[in-house]
Amino acid sequence: MRPLHPLRDLNEQTLRRRTSIKWRQYPDDVLPLWVAEMDVVPDASIRAALTAAIESGDTGYPHGTGYAEALADFAARRWGWDGLDPSRTAYAADVMTGIAEVLRLVSEPGGPVVVSPPVYPPFLDVVEHVGRTVVEAPLGADGRLDLAALEDAFRVAAGRAAYLLCNPHNPTAVTHTADELGAVASLAREHGVRVVADEIHGPLVPDGFVPYLSVAGAEDAFVVTSASKAWNLAGLKAAVVVAGPEASADLARLPEIVSHGPSHLGVLAHTVALRDGVPWLDAVVADLADNRRLLGDLLDEHLPDVRWARGSATYLAWLDCRALGLGDDPAAFFLEHARVALNSGLTFGSGGAGHVRLNFATSPPLLDDAIRRMAHALEVRSD
Ligand SMILES: Cc1ncc(COP(=O)(O)O)c(C=O)c1O
Repeated sequence: MRPLHPLRDLNEQTLRRRTSIKWRQYPDDVLPLWVAEMDVVPDASIRAALTAAIESGDTGYPHGTGYAEALADFAARRWGWDGLDPSRTAYAADVMTGIAEVLRLVSEPGGPVVVSPPVYPPFLDVVEHVGRTVVEAPLGADGRLDLAALEDAFRVAAGRAAYLLCNPHNPTAVTHTADELGAVASLAREHGVRVVADEIHGPLVPDGFVPYLSVAGAEDAFVVTSASKAWNLAGLKAAVVVAGPEASADLARLPEIVSHGPSHLGVLAHTVALRDGVPWLDAVVADLADNRRLLGDLLDEHLPDVRWARGSATYLAWLDCRALGLGDDPAAFFLEHARVALNSGLTFGSGGAGHVRLNFATSPPLLDDAIRRMAHALEVRSD
């Protein structure tokens, strides 16, 4: 059988036929390396399950805990963690909806929710959306959790506070270690802060991923996750809310209506992904490792003044462009002059100015083209 290379199967012409946001937001002369979609076709097992469901008319409402069971089995096999109990789970439409609902359960209106910027921008929006107040505990200069800053924030936030943890971290692609997560758990306990961990990028971590609920002290936490990022199924909405053993009573207060969010086809696709899509996932993780190396080489050769800490967790590269002299929003320059769409660092909260987030889950020739375009735009500017 031909080796799987999910990230090398599609060319630009095929990708431009897509109708999802990544390929439609900008005009056709722009290379889109922004929103977290991958340029892949889903695994054959998922395509077959969806086709069979549609052809047989199995298009009703979801039923049962199969998705949570598949996640529990996946967690046991991949991460050696067998503590995920499907009876302490609920479904939500997607991860951000699940997070919004869990924040409503564990914090007070107007109360503090700690986040660690630069961070996935909807983390800031969701806190506002549920009527809570953002308290920042910025990452350290190395892009990792700053435990001293976290302790300060927890102290200030005391009361019914929550901490929204991104595990692994988007955008720095840092995989938190067991020690770091253990320290988060003990600080949270000490200050009465409830941790809500987003683990949507977890399956994309090549090795060393630590599920937050596997850490001692995290028993009262929640995790919200989904197969949507690792198997590129954002268009097939479904997510799982997982309560730690000491959070069952909170989970029981989750309104039943929340479970109406995911679609049957979403739940079906995610369940098949976790059960049968692991060889495909491994192939994606391997292709991403190649692209990560390629990006490093391209930056060294064409954009040597860009600094990149090279987190290995996911397919997002957090690029420090401050030495390029492009001001606070280099993404605006690259969009206008290189016709490459990146995420502006400014939207990621404190520490984002002068940075861009680049999505390298694309085919190698497109990555090569994008970096050359960016370098050329800088050359032309300085001529
Ligand atoms: C950290 C993180 N959480 C959540 C999401 C969005 O997930 P969903 O579409 O399930 O809300 C993303 C998407 O990129 C993400 O990076």
